[in-house]
Amino acid sequence: MVKKHNHVGMKTRSLMIPAICLCMLFTVVWSWLDPVAASDQDMVESQQAFGVAYQVLSHPRCLNCHPAGDAPTIRDDSQPHKFNVKRGPEGKGVDPLKCLMCHRDANQPDGPPGVPNWHMPPENMPMVFQGRTSAELCRQLKDPLRNGGRTGEQVIGHIDKDPLVLWGWNPGQGRAVPEMTHEEFSAKMHAWVEKGCACPE
Ligand code: HEC
Ligand code: HEC
Repeated sequence: MVKKHNHVGMKTRSLMIPAICLCMLFTVVWSWLDPVAASDQDMVESQQAFGVAYQVLSHPRCLNCHPAGDAPTIRDDSQPHKFNVKRGPEGKGVDPLKCLMCHRDANQPDGPPGVPNWHMPPENMPMVFQGRTSAELCRQLKDPLRNGGRTGEQVIGHIDKDPLVLWGWNPGQGRAVPEMTHEEFSAKMHAWVEKGCACPE
């Protein structure tokens, strides 16, 4: 009797190892196939990517053209722009203080910074970055009513190539640049869109 009992015990044990292996394999495969688990992971990665990109979006080089008020701001502490310059309906200033009167196609040493077509967002779509938390700015950027009707991909298009954005990394003497490179920033914004435009809580 004892011998028989032992025999059954060994058989059970020898079956146990393959059973555990199968179970582990199943768990792994299931987690690959389970769409809910995958999209949770994407959501987390999307949120994280936006969180990193926000370091640039909230940088004074960007805030100064994306201010809360109806006028651009200047320098690393975003103080009022001199000469009482105003946004104007098209973001191009109010006569006679049009942006292009002073801002030219390139930075001027000890003068106004510049790239071609220097202007800020228009009155009816001011695209305010100043004073926005990362969650608020994220929701705003994907809201067509507040981003000029752009899809995620179009928001990215502006970020990759627009001279106004690229200027942030070549702003002229005496102005700080963002800590991460433009390529890193761009990659984070792409990851944010590709993984579903999820916003930080
Ligand atoms: C009368 C000339 C003049 C006009 C008009 C003008 N600017 Fe400027 N702007 C300057 C000068 C000069 C500076 C540099 C100020 C400094 O750094 O001390 C400057 C700086 C800036 C900066 C700061 C960049 C930074 O990050 O420090 C922004 C943004 C800006 N201007 C936007 C605009 C916009 C948008 C318009 C039109 C709505 C405009 N400016 C119209 C002369 C002008
Ligand atoms: C000289 C002013 C200026 C500066 C500096 C500037 N922007 Fe903009 N930004 C604009 C204008 C104007 C628009 C509206 C779209 C247009 O008319 O080109 C805009 C729109 C945007 C948008 C909205 C989405 C889109 O695709 O248009 C994003 C995102 C953006 N800017 C990011 C940035 C970032 C990041 C920086 C800093 C690295 C920056 N901007 C610096 C003027 C500026």
